[in-house]
Amino acid sequence: MLAAMHPAGEFYGIDMMPAHIDHARCLATEAKLPNATFHAIDFGAVADLKLPRFDYIVVRRVYTWVNAQVRADLRSFIDLHLKPDGLVYLSYNALPGRAADLPLQRLVRALGESFDGNSIERVAAALKIVHSVRDLRFRHSRRVPCSPASIRQRTIMLRPISPMSFWRRTGSR
Ligand SMILES: C[S@@+](CC[C@H](N)C(=O)[O-])C[C@H]1O[C@@H](n2cnc3c(N)ncnc32)[C@H](O)[C@@H]1O
Repeated sequence: MLAAMHPAGEFYGIDMMPAHIDHARCLATEAKLPNATFHAIDFGAVADLKLPRFDYIVVRRVYTWVNAQVRADLRSFIDLHLKPDGLVYLSYNALPGRAADLPLQRLVRALGESFDGNSIERVAAALKIVHSVRDLRFRHSRRVPCSPASIRQRTIMLRPISPMSFWRRTGSR
């Protein structure tokens, strides 16, 4: 949207997930935006891209999700690529604002610990149980943060990034 509104500006999007980058490229192609470029790459490797210096750097919904090394990579990127009078927008999920996410996150993590496999497989197995409990529609479940509606909304929101959201601990697979 910013690229469409500011045709004289140059916009770059970076994320290591190819699916996210493919989606962004499709949107930019459909909207005929030659001024938006996307890279599927780890923040730790962006130095190889030879990007310009930026007036604005937006780090949205990333800093809370990643480990100390990736946070350091992001800060290095900002040090290298922000113009001296540039601005950074960095969002961070803090309590109590995100407290409603915690019951589901803890439930999925606890259930997932009992399965083998990588984080994607464990989250998928745990969500299967959560959904089957949701489908039982206990009366009590309507009054707690893990209500069917809440689970539906939060799992839809978290599906593309769920392993990161549920297993954000250093060293997790
Ligand atoms: C919660 S999502 C947010 C996505 C997007 N920024 C948004 O606001 O919708 C976190 C994103 O961080 C990306 N990410 C995590 N670690 C990364 C890394 N080391 N290098 C590049 N991207 C990373 C993930 O692929 C994921 O898409």
